[in-house]
Amino acid sequence: MNESDIKKNYIKKIKEFKKHNKLYFEDNSPIISDKEYDQIKKEIINLEKKFSYLNSSSSPSISLGYAPSKNFIKFKHRVKMLSLSNAFEIEDLNNFEKKIFNYLNQEIEVEYSVEPKIDGISASLTYKNGLLVTGTSRGDGSTGEVITENLKTIKDIPQKITFKDFPKDIDIRGEVFIKKKDFNELKDNFANPRNAASGSLRQKNPKETKKIPLNFIAYTYGYFESENIKYQSDFLKSLKRWGFKTNDHNKVLKTIKDLEIFHKKFENERFDLEYDVDGLVYKVNSLEVQKRLGFTANSPRWAIAHKFSADSAYSQITDINIQVGRTGALTPVARIKPVNIGGVVVSNATLHNEDEIIRKDIRLGDTVKVERAGDVIPHVVLVDLKKRKKSSKKFVFPKKCPCGFDTIKEFNKITKKYDAVRRCPDRGFECEKIAVEKIKHFISKEALNIDGLGKKVVEKFWDLNLIRYPQDIFNLDYAKISKLVGWGDLSVSNLKYSIDQSKKVSLDRFIYSIGIRHIGIENSKLLAEYTKSIANFLNFITNKNFNEFLNIDGIGETQINSLKIFFENKSNYSIIEKLSSLLNISDIKKNKDGKLLNVTFMITGKLVDMSRAEAKSLIEENSGSVVSTINKKLKYLIIGDKPTTRKVQQAKELGIKIISQKEWISLLD
Ligand code: IVH
Repeated sequence: MNESDIKKNYIKKIKEFKKHNKLYFEDNSPIISDKEYDQIKKEIINLEKKFSYLNSSSSPSISLGYAPSKNFIKFKHRVKMLSLSNAFEIEDLNNFEKKIFNYLNQEIEVEYSVEPKIDGISASLTYKNGLLVTGTSRGDGSTGEVITENLKTIKDIPQKITFKDFPKDIDIRGEVFIKKKDFNELKDNFANPRNAASGSLRQKNPKETKKIPLNFIAYTYGYFESENIKYQSDFLKSLKRWGFKTNDHNKVLKTIKDLEIFHKKFENERFDLEYDVDGLVYKVNSLEVQKRLGFTANSPRWAIAHKFSADSAYSQITDINIQVGRTGALTPVARIKPVNIGGVVVSNATLHNEDEIIRKDIRLGDTVKVERAGDVIPHVVLVDLKKRKKSSKKFVFPKKCPCGFDTIKEFNKITKKYDAVRRCPDRGFECEKIAVEKIKHFISKEALNIDGLGKKVVEKFWDLNLIRYPQDIFNLDYAKISKLVGWGDLSVSNLKYSIDQSKKVSLDRFIYSIGIRHIGIENSKLLAEYTKSIANFLNFITNKNFNEFLNIDGIGETQINSLKIFFENKSNYSIIEKLSSLLNISDIKKNKDGKLLNVTFMITGKLVDMSRAEAKSLIEENSGSVVSTINKKLKYLIIGDKPTTRKVQQAKELGIKIISQKEWISLLD
């Protein structure tokens, strides 16, 4: 699925979720069971975990129950609850200080109150004569929701304060959050601890809030009149004395250089904390100077949040597991203590391969830096050697696959080196780990594209012994499946239907679906175009005529070798034979009368509402072709969003026509 399909699917699920919420909470007449309702919630949350760009405000990970704001009384804050501007680089900090000097029109020596920025949600507590009278959420900053009863369930929030110097009328503000270890037990229901805290706090029923262990750390005030307190750091001390929890890591620092040093140190240590921290807040310590500086529309001039880099974090390796891929590659995966990286809780990170482990000397128990970019699998960047225990031992990479077979490292004739990757040699479905992965590949979108038979279902069917080989998919025991939890008559008949539909497949997709190493989508197309029909393809294989494929432009030694190894194996061969009799494999007829005959294209940048693969097949359906290198033969370069500048430059130099997605589509009409 491409991004737009994923979004569509997500929105569909959110709509469904909202519909059932209304039926349950507003109409009091649910039409699905709690279990089915939980399933929808889980699906939405799983999608959010996988694709960080999915973040509907109606998500169950944010709004538990039904539109909480409707359930709460509105409250206009006496003093607005503003946000903070962000700094990412030292440059931003220097600018922040410069602006302060400019505003004050003088260079003063500034002292900063430095406070960890806990990633939770803020709340305001109004105390009158020492009694907690109202507790509110931030809302839009001007108006919040009254959630007093929910806040009262938090043990860190004092309800009565008898200290003589406690102001008669004051709003205490701070962060409500959930500890990492507590989140661990709730992680199936929420995308991250912040959402868990927010969802819990805005529950209609305070009893529900009480079930989730929330914490409160106080850090500032809203409405408050006092002549006595002169520094933010003193206010924090008073808060502690009055019975509030304050952050143990709060401190006072003087220069930007000191802030920078502390930030670096804290960024590495933060994973040891019990809660998620996404940066440090620096506040001008003198309340008098704060008053002079005042606010811009959204944030105070006297404070800034210095964020940690969003896409990396430190955590500790608790285990190293070996995963086996479709091609037999053994990939070591580090299980790490869950850590929030840019809003996503990460608990696994790839270690790539044996050589990488040796090169970085990664060991069990090590504290490591984990990086996450976009939706790719998080990976371990480096080890913090200072944190390594004396007793730690080098990690010994297993020489056997979990299936029991000896693994090998292949010798690469071109680089004249052994591969970095250790593999379980393909023995044709004998290694169970490889076999499951092969079946997953067989049903995948670019292969047979069997909707309703996702990777998880394949794993389940495998565990239940319902499938061992790809051909078993066409002989499923539906009576048994319909009795499984989560499978109703409708889902079984949908599955049957999509399996039936998948039987009609083009030769190139079929070749790809077999999952021969080095024969990806492109090479499958080349082989299909050359052999033309499944009968012919099988002939080539039976006669071991592999070397003839060397005639195909694009197919080389590596591919030929891989084909040879694959078909030397009798079980592989018999699977292909069985499949070819079960499926309706269509011949390749190159469309020779399309509008784009003999026209070559190249695509750079992101297209609107269309994946690259989709664009490519559209071009090919119209007899055109897509190339991957720029040369004089190229006719059009199609430009999407954020194109590669180098490609555009090259195209210009060679006088190649540069067109937009719209212009390209108009060529088809
Ligand atoms: S001061 C006007 N101090 O960060 C001052 N905020 O973007 C604003 N936060 O909504 C608040 N730790 O939820 C302050 N020590 C701290 C904080 C903190 C976390 C959050 C708070 C606020 C957001 C500002």
